[in-house]
Amino acid sequence: MKVDDINTITVLGAGNMGHGIAEVAALAGYDVVLRDIKDEFVQKGYDQIEWSLNKLAEKDRLSQEDADAAFDRVTPVVDLEEAVANADVVIEAVPEKMSIKKEVYTDLEKFAPDHTVFATNTSSLSITELSEVTERPERFCGMHFFNPPVRMDLVEVISGAHTADETLELIEDLAEDMGKTPVRVRKDSPGFIVNRILVPLMNEAAWIVHSGDATMAEVDATTKYDLGLPMGSFELADYVGIDVGYHVLEYMHEVLGDAYKPCPLLSEKVEEGNLGQKTGKGFYDYE
Ligand code: CAA
Repeated sequence: MKVDDINTITVLGAGNMGHGIAEVAALAGYDVVLRDIKDEFVQKGYDQIEWSLNKLAEKDRLSQEDADAAFDRVTPVVDLEEAVANADVVIEAVPEKMSIKKEVYTDLEKFAPDHTVFATNTSSLSITELSEVTERPERFCGMHFFNPPVRMDLVEVISGAHTADETLELIEDLAEDMGKTPVRVRKDSPGFIVNRILVPLMNEAAWIVHSGDATMAEVDATTKYDLGLPMGSFELADYVGIDVGYHVLEYMHEVLGDAYKPCPLLSEKVEEGNLGQKTGKGFYDYE
């Protein structure tokens, strides 16, 4: 399959990343099916796409006509069989837990057409291990977007041990067609490239505050105004979801060792359910 043969893209998971990826695919002109396990989840993602498209139009980043046309290309669905019936590519963005993702791929394999390529938006988990749950490991790779997908240019395209070169080329072409810059990640290691750098930075920021060596505001000021990142470490953790960074870190700790031991400040927030902007409270308050 070539990128011109792709008509329908199904995105599994309507959370922060899923709805953002669906929006990017719709803006690139694809028919998009957005699927989640409950009506309320899929509706929330669908509403967020509408909000984001209108916001982009309001900021003159695109015309209201193009925003409306993109929104019309998105269909919200709950039933998995219906969601993937016409999928040329499935981009999976369900929660970052190996067991959940494996369950999804087992079900997906039952319903997806033979030609469908599977791309996972996992931010750290093994592509090889996930691909082995399916009967098409050569047509399986990582396609890792960054939050918010509609504003972030980079996409990591990750090869598993069984991924065919044609699959990587197809997904790189797809990323380019979506206006993104793909970077091929040849080694399927935890966190790939970006999160291998970014998540330990968030963790170290938390350790500095935990040990009393600096305040959150001081750390955020230095990451923003000295290191030149667009957000402070704690602001970014709140923005992507403290749970998201924490799960990546847990996995890196498990596979790569103690250098990646999560700081208790992060695990406490996750246990309290104060996950950042999405819950109204994280390291900072948003209510
Ligand atoms: N869609 C449309 N509009 C959006 C939006 C979205 N998804 N998200 C924010 N906006 C809007 C805001 O509401 C705001 O509008 P108002 O001014 O009306 O309030 C406006 O965009 C702000 O845009 P600006 O361009 O003025 O602001 P900015 O220059 O600060 O850019 C940003 C915003 C692009 C999010 C920038 O802060 C940024 O790049 N932050 C860092 C993001 C980042 O590092 N992401 C990667 C995280 S790691 C990850 O995702 C990987 C993982 O696996 C964990």
